[in-house]
Amino acid sequence: MLKIAVISPNKARMEEIRQILQGGDFSRQVLLFKDGLDQLALVADKEHPDIVILDVISHGTEELLTLEQFGQHYPGSAMIILCENASSEFLVAAIRTGVKDVLPLEAVALQEAVRRIESKLKPVSTSQKMGKVIAFMASKGGSGATFLACNLGYILAATRDVKVALLDLNLQFGDAALFVSDSVPSNTLSDVASNISRLDASFLASSMVQVLPNYGVLAAPEDAERSVEIKPEHIEVLIRLAKSQYDFVIMDIGRTLSATSVKALDHADMIFVVLQETLPFIRDSKRLIHTLQSLGYAKDKIHLILNRYDKGGDIQLDDIEETLGMKMFKTIPNSYEAVSASVNQGVPIMKIYKHNSVTKVLQEVAKNLTTDPKAKSSSWLDSLFQHA
Ligand SMILES: Nc1ncnc2c1ncn2[C@@H]1O[C@H](COP(=O)(O)OP(=O)(O)OP(=O)(O)O)[C@@H](O)[C@H]1O
Ligand SMILES: [Mg+2]
Repeated sequence: MLKIAVISPNKARMEEIRQILQGGDFSRQVLLFKDGLDQLALVADKEHPDIVILDVISHGTEELLTLEQFGQHYPGSAMIILCENASSEFLVAAIRTGVKDVLPLEAVALQEAVRRIESKLKPVSTSQKMGKVIAFMASKGGSGATFLACNLGYILAATRDVKVALLDLNLQFGDAALFVSDSVPSNTLSDVASNISRLDASFLASSMVQVLPNYGVLAAPEDAERSVEIKPEHIEVLIRLAKSQYDFVIMDIGRTLSATSVKALDHADMIFVVLQETLPFIRDSKRLIHTLQSLGYAKDKIHLILNRYDKGGDIQLDDIEETLGMKMFKTIPNSYEAVSASVNQGVPIMKIYKHNSVTKVLQEVAKNLTTDPKAKSSSWLDSLFQHA
């Protein structure tokens, strides 16, 4: 997220600048500091902004000297100076000190100047990840979507050396954090949403329940009243940030489709629909698949997971696949005792039942998800050699 520090002696101008920079765009973090030039080094030291916008009244040689020193000490912060009637001498001298722009407070010009700097900054941030986003949806309540989402996250982090975030976006029945942790979340999705303009990687990390050093869970709001404050724009900013910081972003969507859950699904690379082998689940899965497709999600994005599968059951796997018009991505065995113990204790299943059948299947899924697709595409070569 682009961090912009605004320093101005005038509160009204400061607010105006913030409006111009932010509008409805939450992908920029704008920090306001009341006062003048003497704040510059303090702000840069503390906040490391990408851009400093300095609103100055006087423009003399003393100011130029400070600007020059600033440019030398903080090459990572680009500087824009706002002043209403700068002489051309001041303008030239300021640019010489390394200042990127000198302009009057005018919306279009300021937005343009920030955009120019922004576009130059982007390619530099190579440390950013492009995480894979996986959505879990329950075809019906009690399908096991939350259990599977949380435990897949844990297993990915514990066995595959990847950084994983689980976002509980089930605004009505969110309970994901409790499946893998016994600590009460100090922050939830609603704290993130209400502070969205200052959301960055460290704020996100500190809002999560840290299950492992590389596995964090962002809990859902504690009650429905706080859930209504969460808007699709918040989800958008949150997922964009999470993608840039984690290798896997797993989302527990629950089973309601709303403006916020659709926003989340828009970002999903894979949508896992969890069902069980009884008619009500199959019926609701069919409806859900249909709805997802009518929302424009491609069929190859949607993956079915048959949970609590029992080979000897009344309904055959083939029949379910035929009814739903899709192959099963994975079947997860029924394991009542182990799963109940894990869920009741709030401890990931792998931690207490390392060799359990559910643990094993989830390890397979984790392995599939982390196997480099490029490596896979060379498999025809391997098979050539095997036959030779
Ligand atoms: N493979 C399994 N074997 C045995 N029990 C299971 C299995 N998977 C899930 N369960 C049980 O099913 C219960 C419901 O699971 P979970 O809360 O994950 O469902 P959900 O789809 O998220 O439901 P909701 O829509 O209400 O959020 C769990 O408490 C767990 O005990
Ligand atoms: Mg759930």
